[in-house]
Amino acid sequence: MKISLSKPAISNAELKAAQSVLKSGWLTDGPKNEQFEHSFAKYVGTKHAQTINSCASALFIVLKALNIKGEVIIPSFTFVATANAVMAAGAKPVFADIDFESGNVTADTIKPLITSRTEAIMPVHFAGQSCQMDPIIKLCRKHKLVLIEDSAEAIGSTYKNKKTGSFGIGCFSFFPTKNITTGEGGMITTNDKNLKQTIKTMISHGIAKNTKTRYNWQREAVVAGFNLRMSNVLAAIGLEQLKKLNKLNNLRRQHARYLTAGLDKQIVIPPSAKQFCKHVYQMYTVKVDPKIRNRLVEKLKKVGIGASVHFSPPVHQQKFYKKFAHQNLKNTDKLANSILTLPMYPDLKIKELDYIINQTNRLTHKLLEDRT
Ligand SMILES: Cc1ncc(COP(=O)(O)O)c(C=O)c1O
Repeated sequence: MKISLSKPAISNAELKAAQSVLKSGWLTDGPKNEQFEHSFAKYVGTKHAQTINSCASALFIVLKALNIKGEVIIPSFTFVATANAVMAAGAKPVFADIDFESGNVTADTIKPLITSRTEAIMPVHFAGQSCQMDPIIKLCRKHKLVLIEDSAEAIGSTYKNKKTGSFGIGCFSFFPTKNITTGEGGMITTNDKNLKQTIKTMISHGIAKNTKTRYNWQREAVVAGFNLRMSNVLAAIGLEQLKKLNKLNNLRRQHARYLTAGLDKQIVIPPSAKQFCKHVYQMYTVKVDPKIRNRLVEKLKKVGIGASVHFSPPVHQQKFYKKFAHQNLKNTDKLANSILTLPMYPDLKIKELDYIINQTNRLTHKLLEDRT
């Protein structure tokens, strides 16, 4: 049996939507972007949303638009794009440790790092589960810090029934492994109309567009912008994906429950389900004995199961970022050595889930026995 780590849920609806836009001749940012933005903002519960070409671009442009050049507190336990965006914007990443169970930063790990140079906190909702937001929001208010949520891995996830990306400024990814996809793509969510307009201008060559100027030949840059737009074709695909997001997330949750029930919890620790959080399992990550983790990934791959590791090495151990590693990140280091990602996508079948359970339990037992 061959089971990939992830698989996008693309059906005829997306093919038809893309074809229809291709035939329309309007291929760059267009009416489908506006529709996608409107629907996405409504879904997340913010006043505005802005399509963009990736989540990395989203994180970067939000920092740029807000002129954040000081310290930004982020986890090291994340995909490197979180830190790269901070660097690209000319700010400095400060790495916060995480809660070992969830892999998320907490107010307790963030608080000691706040200085007079701190300008923003950028928590990551790891693998589909929200951070505990109330205490983080409190810290932001107390110290007047901007809250930017890296919600790349948590589309549709909630904390106290509110969607991630609605607590601060939300940045989302539509990379093919994410809960919905446009191939490459991203979204920014905000309640600030001016921020949305500034970003819209910055990602379109710095030319402020409105209905009057859109068809005008006098195009004038008001800032030194760039081109980070999403195409109308991809926005049309995103709109179709968004319509089925709840259904896709429910399937992920159902599969996660099945895997958790079947795994031998003495030796394979399933993902935590934290209070107040609705997990949407962008990834299904387990913890195993660090001594066997790497070999277990290899063995699972040999029997056709696309296992992987997210994330190791953590960012502060990566060549470029070592110079920013000043903090004690013991939970980050510990989790990076024990975490393992098993396949997770809506289309998984029961016989595939059974195979993942049986092989994971069998191979983990065998590797542990071989060590004794
Ligand atoms: C936490 C996190 N932030 C940012 C990104 C970057 O997203 P994109 O590939 O859309 O730039 C990812 C994607 O893998 C991610 O997992």
